[in-house]
Amino acid sequence: MRTETEHTIFLKDYTPSPYRIVSVDLDFKIGESETRVRALLTIEPQADTAPGTPLVLDGDGLVLDSIAIDGAPLVLSAYAADETGLTLIEPPLRRFVLETEVTLQPASNTRLMGLYRSGGTWCTQCEAEGFRRITYYLDRPDNLAVFKVRITAPLAVAPVLLSNGNLIEQGSAGDGLHFAVWEDPFPKPSYLFALVAGDLGSITDSFTTASGRKVDLAIYCSHGKEEQCLWAMDSLKRSMAWDERRFGREYDLDIFNIVAVSDFNFGAMENKGLNIFNDKLVFAQPDSATDADYDGIERVIAHEYFHNWTGNRITCRDWFQLCLKEGLTVYRDQEFTSDERSRPVKRISDVVTLRSAQFPEDGGPLAHPARPSQYSEINNFYTPTVYEKGAEIVRMLATLLGEAGFRKGMDLYFERHDGEATTIEAFLAVFAEANGVDLEQFQTWYLQAGTPRLSVSDSYDAAAQTYTLKLRQETLPTPGQPTKAALVLPIKFGLLGPNGSEMAWTGVSGGTVRDGMIVLDGAQAEIVFTGIPSKPVPSLLRGFSAPVTMDTTLSQADQLFLAQHDSDPFNRWQALQDVGTALAVAAITGTPWSDDAVNALSQAMGETLASESLDDAFKALALSLPAEAQISRAIGKDIDPDRVHAVRSELLKAVFAPLALPMLNAYLKLSSDAPYAPDAASTGRRALRNRLLGLLVGSEAAGATGLAAQQYAGARNMTDRLAALSASAMAWTGDAEAMLADFHANYAAANPLVLDKWLAVTASVPRDGVIERIRAVLDDPAFPKTNPNRLRSLVGSFVMGNPTQFARADGAGFRFVTGIVAELDRINPQVAARLLTGFRIWPMLEQGRRDAAKAALTGLEASGSLSRNTADILSRMLAS
Ligand code: TRP
Ligand code: ZN
Repeated sequence: MRTETEHTIFLKDYTPSPYRIVSVDLDFKIGESETRVRALLTIEPQADTAPGTPLVLDGDGLVLDSIAIDGAPLVLSAYAADETGLTLIEPPLRRFVLETEVTLQPASNTRLMGLYRSGGTWCTQCEAEGFRRITYYLDRPDNLAVFKVRITAPLAVAPVLLSNGNLIEQGSAGDGLHFAVWEDPFPKPSYLFALVAGDLGSITDSFTTASGRKVDLAIYCSHGKEEQCLWAMDSLKRSMAWDERRFGREYDLDIFNIVAVSDFNFGAMENKGLNIFNDKLVFAQPDSATDADYDGIERVIAHEYFHNWTGNRITCRDWFQLCLKEGLTVYRDQEFTSDERSRPVKRISDVVTLRSAQFPEDGGPLAHPARPSQYSEINNFYTPTVYEKGAEIVRMLATLLGEAGFRKGMDLYFERHDGEATTIEAFLAVFAEANGVDLEQFQTWYLQAGTPRLSVSDSYDAAAQTYTLKLRQETLPTPGQPTKAALVLPIKFGLLGPNGSEMAWTGVSGGTVRDGMIVLDGAQAEIVFTGIPSKPVPSLLRGFSAPVTMDTTLSQADQLFLAQHDSDPFNRWQALQDVGTALAVAAITGTPWSDDAVNALSQAMGETLASESLDDAFKALALSLPAEAQISRAIGKDIDPDRVHAVRSELLKAVFAPLALPMLNAYLKLSSDAPYAPDAASTGRRALRNRLLGLLVGSEAAGATGLAAQQYAGARNMTDRLAALSASAMAWTGDAEAMLADFHANYAAANPLVLDKWLAVTASVPRDGVIERIRAVLDDPAFPKTNPNRLRSLVGSFVMGNPTQFARADGAGFRFVTGIVAELDRINPQVAARLLTGFRIWPMLEQGRRDAAKAALTGLEASGSLSRNTADILSRMLAS
């Protein structure tokens, strides 16, 4: 294998560039077969740059056509160009203009980085290092420059010409060509550059900012999809209003454009004034998009919009600081959804995501700090750790400082760093300064990988009326970090008295307790509460106030007491999950559950369903057992996924079969003829109804399969149709095969985004034969192996969502995936590397599967030349 581990880049090596590019004048001549790019870069040496210091510009796969400085062509000896860039051997030690010309082939750019074609549309993706595939440049986020962009293209194929900022000129260029000139007054790093040229439809709207400026809004898409962009537009306007209300942040340009494209490596991109989106995160209509899709659109539209302040106006000094913009912006989009919808429901779903995506990363071979100190391929660090754990760290900061203190820090951050490329240290410093606190130890959250384990035990002294909580934290070693420091853990809590109400105490000693939280900052603490009249039930880590794994010694009865009485909805949900996990784990490791234990959980679920105070969305989340992956992680080692699957299915039956009748009644009562609406109440209603359908089918209730078939056939929106299909397919009911065929023929065939749903369900069926089905889809010459959405739906769902088949005992699942990765790596390394990360569970499996996984990975290593993306993931995967 051609590993490129020598290419490692270290945070400690950061140095400013000896030259800076202050302004950029780009001229794109777009033609059917190739695009010519002429760049005029105004460059200055830094004050301390020594004469004779070479200027090294990044370039990736570029072919230089011409080069000049201040209009004079350069002699061959004055520069050197190769695969990685362009070096000016001895540039002038004054301001000068470098002019280069290159020719690009966007149509054959299957990596989807730089300038490429999606459908007929020309579009760009520059984050993280795609701009160097467009022109030679200082392609690093600390070089901020103003951009002027001229685009010339054939009018017939590209009537729409867009770039960042404001449109300052447009017109005919003769010969069937036309042009547009865009100017972005805000200095920006190259990763925020964007260009779009194509034949696109659009919807338009406007937003008036708090200070009274009118902003023209537009969403561009392929013709005929316009009305599917209305939800995205609605989400955008609400995001703009929210950022003004909640953070005092107004939009700054007169135009905000969004473009939906079909081929895109990630979800969306926050290019200044011209966001580019994966079309699955724009298009929504009730008969093709589910509630989850509507949700994702609202969230990602908000996320990219919020980047305008947290990412664009204040950007990252270097890519090690990625979490500075991503963790913070995820926190902001989470808060937006919480304010727009239900805060507890949002918190529970975010924690489910964190546990299913980030915890396995943090506990496996790919573990890394939220701010890494080294990388070989930056694209492999757009991870759940940087995004989701990054958001948790910001959330803890807000918890520790309180809402007002957090806002003071944010205000100072915007005031002090607007227009800068900065660091995590600078971010923490404003909170420390604004609140007069020391955040030195808190910073460890950014530097240390691994999920801390928090162990809790308690005791009560009736004679002394004291209650003692013993807390201990420990973080296990992760790759490259053998020893770990204690972290600052904000542990929100309450003590529940016998009637379920909050207990007060008269005194507390042994630790920091304030504002309803314990702040644990050492390895352990023993906190004594005085004046406690009877043994309380502790409710700890309310709202999941720190991203840890908590081991508790609470009895099942105490957990169920919490599930019923806790004032914190998150912990009510958590208590039910914990009871389910404990029963499953015990059974898998050799202690079958007792009827009493299962009946108690069943009864608690029944009470949850019957409750008149809980809302539907919450009930939908509460009426569930932890996912197989969650149970596996609680066991931690020597996992046999077949056994986990079998035991969980049995437990599901044992808990929910007794509730068949109330579940059926509730299901029927929730049925509605109202037209589809994406509001929180309607979404919650559908979520609960579909959850009940899933539970009825999963617990093999009489008539349940017929009910699913009936819902499938009669569904009036995609949410209900897909839920019925998915419930039937996962349980592989007698109707499943026919339903899948019907869905393909009548819904998926005509709409690629619906096809993705069919692909995902097909690949997730936990049964033999699934690999052959996936193979058949992939081998169909019509299947687009260049489209990331299709590949992720088909292969990604298999790797991440089908543990029994991916981790088959015979190794066929592993070999299947490494084979696909090897093939896709030549088409799109980012997508291939991402699929390979599914192997991160391998060290946790039982010996036989472990050996099989390792053999497949070693086989991939031996298979020949791999991209840096895939080689990096593979080498870290095998180092464990
Ligand atoms: N910055 C984008 C976001 O989080 C992520 C992104 C979009 C991205 N496209 C990418 C990252 C391509 C790497 C490569 O909103
Ligand atoms: Zn982002």
